[in-house]
Amino acid sequence: MNKYTVGMWMYKNGGGELIQAKLINQLRERDISVITDLNLAHATAHNGEIICHNVVMEDLDLYFSYNAGQQTAYQMYLYQALNETVPCLNNYDSFALCEDKYRTSHKLARAGIRTTDYRLCNTDDKHTLKNTIREWDGRLVYKPTDGWGGMGIVKVENERSLDMLMPFLEHTNLKHLYVERYINYDMSDFRVDIVDGQFVGCYGRKAPADDWKTNISSGGTVMAREASDELIEVALKATEITGLEIAGVDIIFDEDAQEYVVLEVNGIPAFATPEQEAIGLNFNDKKIELIVNLIERKVHENFEKKALKNELESDSEEE
Ligand SMILES: Nc1ncnc2c1ncn2[C@@H]1O[C@H](COP(=O)(O)OP(=O)(O)O)[C@@H](O)[C@H]1O
Ligand SMILES: [Mg+2]
Repeated sequence: MNKYTVGMWMYKNGGGELIQAKLINQLRERDISVITDLNLAHATAHNGEIICHNVVMEDLDLYFSYNAGQQTAYQMYLYQALNETVPCLNNYDSFALCEDKYRTSHKLARAGIRTTDYRLCNTDDKHTLKNTIREWDGRLVYKPTDGWGGMGIVKVENERSLDMLMPFLEHTNLKHLYVERYINYDMSDFRVDIVDGQFVGCYGRKAPADDWKTNISSGGTVMAREASDELIEVALKATEITGLEIAGVDIIFDEDAQEYVVLEVNGIPAFATPEQEAIGLNFNDKKIELIVNLIERKVHENFEKKALKNELESDSEEE
């Protein structure tokens, strides 16, 4: 029997299964066992406990949630509640922040990190939208604040197109409008992986010839790419501001301003797939090692915290 138990929910496709197996093996060597497939979508809560596949989640020493794609509101709700009692990776607050593009840009901008110029306005605020597109040389990018994989992102190329969209917007039940200035860039981006405040690796994605979005789901292709010290610095700083323990920072280079711009910070950055490893994305082992070290440290910290709390409680009972 290992001394500690960690719960895990990890993606299986694209080589995820093998990564999970490596994590489990290395954690076992540190006296930590792993219960896998703890998907909060299958959990219920009752009497102060969240139960998932007969596991009392509150008894875990840590919960590692690493399944890309959008989480349902239900999963997020339980994740938030669990995070109150059990250390979670990523921590819930930072994860929730980064699921929202507006809140992320806002926080980064306030910390002085270069993001795209953005504007958030009320759905019926045509005036602001009109002014914005004029200010931004007749172009803007509309983004759902909770989107992923490039989905729902639309480039509006001129004021006339915006005028044509306006009546349609009135019939949607969008909560708000989030738009960004279109950045003039070379149609390729940088993904910089960070774990526990340390640089893990970098790669790039290139948009297909007929598109301006680099997402793989938009037809983008992955390429090996070196990171400059400046780029790493930007990614480390952005990660620190979000508070994510594990992050993948998406950055493009603004040709006009000649500087790096942070597009978003991902809370579940995928490991390199076997195909990507074959073209030179060789950071998986380093990433696994850093995550294992991080889990071990968190588990120990939590154990000591609990032990101290028990001691204090038994002391006060004696008095
Ligand atoms: N303001 C922008 N200017 C130019 N290109 C952008 C801008 N915002 C996003 N893109 C392009 O669209 C892609 C998807 O945008 P992103 O904000 O990362 O959303 P998602 O979460 O859907 O990946 C980016 O990888 C980039 O290629
Ligand atoms: Mg992206």
